Amino acid sequence: MNILETRGIYFDYKGLEVLFDISLQVEKGERHAVIGPNGAGKTTLFNVIIGGLIPSRGKVIFKEHDITHATPHELFRHGIGRSFQLTSTFARQTAFQNIRSVVLSRRGIRFNMWRRVDNLGDITNETDEILKKLNLFNERNFPASALSYGKNRSLEFGMAIASDPDLIMLDEPTAGMSRDETHDAVNLIRNLSEGKTMVIIEHDMDVVFSLADRITVLHHGEILATGAPEDIKNNQQVRDAYLGETEV
Ligand SMILES: Nc1ncnc2c1ncn2[C@@H]1O[C@H](COP(=O)(O)OP(=O)(O)O)[C@@H](O)[C@H]1O
Ligand SMILES: [Mg+2]
Repeated sequence: MNILETRGIYFDYKGLEVLFDISLQVEKGERHAVIGPNGAGKTTLFNVIIGGLIPSRGKVIFKEHDITHATPHELFRHGIGRSFQLTSTFARQTAFQNIRSVVLSRRGIRFNMWRRVDNLGDITNETDEILKKLNLFNERNFPASALSYGKNRSLEFGMAIASDPDLIMLDEPTAGMSRDETHDAVNLIRNLSEGKTMVIIEHDMDVVFSLADRITVLHHGEILATGAPEDIKNNQQVRDAYLGETEV
């Protein structure tokens, strides 16, 4: 079953056309990567799906709902509020508090009740379990602002996972990371997204080959190919598209 589909999406920025006839299918439980050189239209597609950009033609279907024109509020009312993109962390709150806020909201505990649930053991335990998986337990009581760039990204990813969404959407989660940080982040994303549905948008091919079940390649706003990582790796058109890229 497809949990997410785009059907014949076209998008232009005030006349500058950047997406042409994009039809993408994401099956429930698959990790689907959308890759392509800089400027290919990846982030635009991401924002058409979930970020409020309205395509000039085509539809976005999520769990059989047409969400093309949906506002975030409407997405929530449709019961689609559990899909998300990375939220930023709250700089002054600790790693623990950042994760706990998501655990609390998933459990429907309202802001004004936080004080009273402060000591609730199971919320604390669940939050700590997530921190351990993120390798952030030692930094549990550090404010997010005191974490390294890579640890901050881990925390953001943890916040996304903690909401237990039906669809995880990530736009270049390793952008700006060092080699080591990227390596760690990819392992983390691989472990935490096991069995979940994920769309990961990525510029770096190496990152996605170890993560994705299926890959769609965008180039100049069009889909160049969709297939298993091995097929994409050996696709000459895809190689040419990346070779033609000047920026690394
Ligand atoms: N807000 C914008 N206004 C006008 N053009 C934009 C805007 N955002 C992106 N673009 C253009 O749209 C094309 C696709 O950009 P983008 O979706 O960011 O690509 P990618 O994420 O693959 O690097 C590029 O040519 C870019 O310059
Ligand atoms: Mg982008």
